[in-house]
Amino acid sequence: MNYTIVIFGGNGDLTYRKLLPALYNLTHDNILANRFAVVGVGRRDYTNERYHEDIYSALKKFSRFNIDDALWNQLKQNIYYKQVDFKDKDSYIDLDLYLKEIDERYQTDSKRIYYYAVAPEYFEIITDNLAHQNMHHINDNWPKVVIEKPFGRDLKSAQYLNKKIVSTFTEKNTYRIDHYLGKEMLQNIMVIRFANSLFEPLWSSKYIEQVQITSSETIGIGTRGEYFEKSGAIRDMAQSHLLQLLCLIAMEKPKSLNSDDIKDEKVKVLNSLTKFTIDNIDSSIALGQYEGYRNEDKVRPTSNIETYVAFKTFVNNERWNGVPFYIRTGKKLPVKTTEIIIEFKKPINNLYEDIKTPNYLVIRVQPKEGVFFQFNAKVPGTIQKIVPVQMDFCQNCQVGLNSPEAYERLIYDITRGDLTLFARWDEVEASWVFIDDIIKYRRESKPNFPNYKPGEWGPEKADEILKKDNHKWITFEN
Ligand SMILES: NC(=O)c1ccc[n+]([C@@H]2O[C@H](COP(=O)([O-])OP(=O)(O)OC[C@H]3O[C@@H](n4cnc5c(N)ncnc54)[C@H](OP(=O)(O)O)[C@@H]3O)[C@@H](O)[C@H]2O)c1
Repeated sequence: MNYTIVIFGGNGDLTYRKLLPALYNLTHDNILANRFAVVGVGRRDYTNERYHEDIYSALKKFSRFNIDDALWNQLKQNIYYKQVDFKDKDSYIDLDLYLKEIDERYQTDSKRIYYYAVAPEYFEIITDNLAHQNMHHINDNWPKVVIEKPFGRDLKSAQYLNKKIVSTFTEKNTYRIDHYLGKEMLQNIMVIRFANSLFEPLWSSKYIEQVQITSSETIGIGTRGEYFEKSGAIRDMAQSHLLQLLCLIAMEKPKSLNSDDIKDEKVKVLNSLTKFTIDNIDSSIALGQYEGYRNEDKVRPTSNIETYVAFKTFVNNERWNGVPFYIRTGKKLPVKTTEIIIEFKKPINNLYEDIKTPNYLVIRVQPKEGVFFQFNAKVPGTIQKIVPVQMDFCQNCQVGLNSPEAYERLIYDITRGDLTLFARWDEVEASWVFIDDIIKYRRESKPNFPNYKPGEWGPEKADEILKKDNHKWITFEN
């Protein structure tokens, strides 16, 4: 099957850093169709040759495989650049003609993938202009449209956007990217839970004390000030990636591995999250901004955007009754990691007084991928001195294992029409219902920003949330 991938935002950061390296790596592994064309669409006045130069340097920096010049020379013959102003209706007449020519040359039968690698404010206008030019419907399965997160700014805007996209392209041809879902370890969470008899019997409030999900960055917002000023940590991380991790940990076993069965279970989790109330919201959420954020490029000097958010929630069902889920994410924190820590209850009626630490299962998503389990054992040579020991399985530490990037998996799935690793609308909607309360809280509270120093683990208030429950944030050496 031949097709054309049209990347709106063809010379944007995401395209150079992730999408084109993913396409190169998929080509390297010989995974895609024999004949496909890529058309990068952007504002700059570039020739194909100039575009290739930029891509080549990006591939050298960001590709997982070293660049084989012979392979690149082959691939680049199928990569084109087309200058279009997204806002200008008339330039879509030209774009359509250009794509028709490519369709013809590649015998694609007009099968196109429109990838919106653009700022969210352009999602609607591009959709409208494609529809106006009648480029939105080929047949029941084509074209496909791929939308980067964040999908909307809040519940209302997400509902509006969804209506527009789905009425133009249909739900089954809409691929809402949450690239975390393409990560190896996320796919592995279900395997760990449901392909082992070891964990599932313990997976409930009877044995689990608390769950912590951390996604931390050591860097600041870098060159993404303009984007971050509109998004903040809540929209950038919590609404999509972190709630997806929570769902995979908390969901019931799906009826099957069918995409809809899995999503049905995830939606149930999202709908079971404790609603914030006037009484609990202030003691459940901590917001932070690192010192120096307001001096970053394209950031307002009085900005009240959060670069850190932590919150506590519960999953209100029989399995998770009373187990707190603590979630945190932030920039300029001490380590770069995304991990889930499951703390098991300490054994009761124990024979040993020396047990200082409970058992932990840690699922590491990035940069290390793997699992480790901490349990207690006797120090050899002592009578009964007990210490915690760790069984550590690091998936990407093994020589020769070079895990595919999330975008490789996702692009491959789009080309073959598999929606499993993409968010369904009701998942997105349920997550906004929950996150809207946090956004409202942020709007109404007047946090005293900045409130943490680069290199610290966020504001003090984040520790206080856990202290009240006799818990504290857990960190393991990475
Ligand atoms: N960057 C990441 O790591 C990342 C990660 C996850 C999700 N995302 C999401 O991906 C999307 C793109 O982000 P990004 O960081 O790649 O943005 P970006 O670097 O600002 O790129 C935006 C692209 O859109 C083009 N563009 C902007 N206005 C245009 C117009 N009026 N007409 C034609 N082209 C126009 C730009 O062209 P010019 O350069 O020629 O102006 C550029 O190619 C966003 O939704 C973001 O939230 C990004």
